[in-house]
Amino acid sequence: MISVRDSLKQLESLQKNRTYYFILSGRYEALALDELTSLLKAFNAANYKLYHYTQLALVESSDVSTSTLQSIAARAGLIKEAGLVLALSDGNDAHLLEDLDVIRLVGRRANKTSIRGASNCGAEILENYVSGVSEPQARIGVARIVCTEGIGVMGLTLAKLDTKDFKHREPSKRPFFRSIALPVYLSRTLVNLTAIRSGTILDPFCGTGSIAIEAALIGFRTICIDLDWTIVRGFHRNLKYLNLSHVEQIAGDARSLPLASSTINGAATDPPYGRAASTHREKVGELYSKFLAELSRVLVSGGRAVFMAPHWLSERVERLINEMGFRKISRRYLYVHGALTRLVYVVEKH
Ligand SMILES: C[S@@+](CC[C@H](N)C(=O)[O-])C[C@H]1O[C@@H](n2cnc3c(N)ncnc32)[C@H](O)[C@@H]1O
Repeated sequence: MISVRDSLKQLESLQKNRTYYFILSGRYEALALDELTSLLKAFNAANYKLYHYTQLALVESSDVSTSTLQSIAARAGLIKEAGLVLALSDGNDAHLLEDLDVIRLVGRRANKTSIRGASNCGAEILENYVSGVSEPQARIGVARIVCTEGIGVMGLTLAKLDTKDFKHREPSKRPFFRSIALPVYLSRTLVNLTAIRSGTILDPFCGTGSIAIEAALIGFRTICIDLDWTIVRGFHRNLKYLNLSHVEQIAGDARSLPLASSTINGAATDPPYGRAASTHREKVGELYSKFLAELSRVLVSGGRAVFMAPHWLSERVERLINEMGFRKISRRYLYVHGALTRLVYVVEKH
């Protein structure tokens, strides 16, 4: 019986260009795709082709190993599953499996996930093949069949999002809770959008600490700041609860950061808009102007800042991005309710 590791190596070497599949969360799909490309950048995958279908991304690359793929999936907030692609079908291609030796290594069972438009995607062809495999000694796992937009992908699952782990630290389960707290998956994604693998991450409006907690768990040196002492004390309790005492907490002002210039590798933050969270009497536009100037000062050149803003502030924010020496990488919409859509900006310091 060959080991799983050896089988995987054999599988990889049989494929000339390795292709990986990523199942994206349907909740904020554009953000999920940005998270994937940011993590590919963080893990130095420069040469790849990316194909995007509804809730599914395929990445073809010789730069990405299976262990990189597992590291990417382990860090993600909005990537539900990832693995190695074994076969693709457009639903009409009966010959598709003819010269795919690789599939002989896959298990007898197939788990099927239909995303959308699953009819005519070739799932039956793929499934029948898996159930017909007759070399049990070489089987290494369960095949995954994903159908979306008329294509079927058969893959070998290598990583899955651990939602139980996310549930354990949901804001409402932590000792200090406020309604301003961001969910775990979104906080994690904001950190990943900085597109760095290691270094120092700053959240200058940390609140109950959702973003800083994820940054620290990923392994970043993490600095978090809030103006409100009650919040800082509460955040401290959350850190203790999660055994994250190494996070650096400062009661300070994002408009004049107590940090040296060019010392921060990435920033991820959710500033107040003066509604659910207080701006401490500062006008919202002024607050954005001042903290963006400070972020531009403390970030290293090429460092990214990820921040949210209400939709009604977008014109001003766009102007500020240019004035403060940033280049806009992306802007995504997050619908909150009828009166509020949030924008997630990713900007890079020149
Ligand atoms: C929207 S909340 C952040 C929520 C946080 N992401 C969480 O998940 O709990 C904004 C925070 O910014 C803080 N704040 C407001 N003005 C500030 C300033 N000038 N400097 C630092 N923090 C400030 C508020 O006290 C509030 O805790």
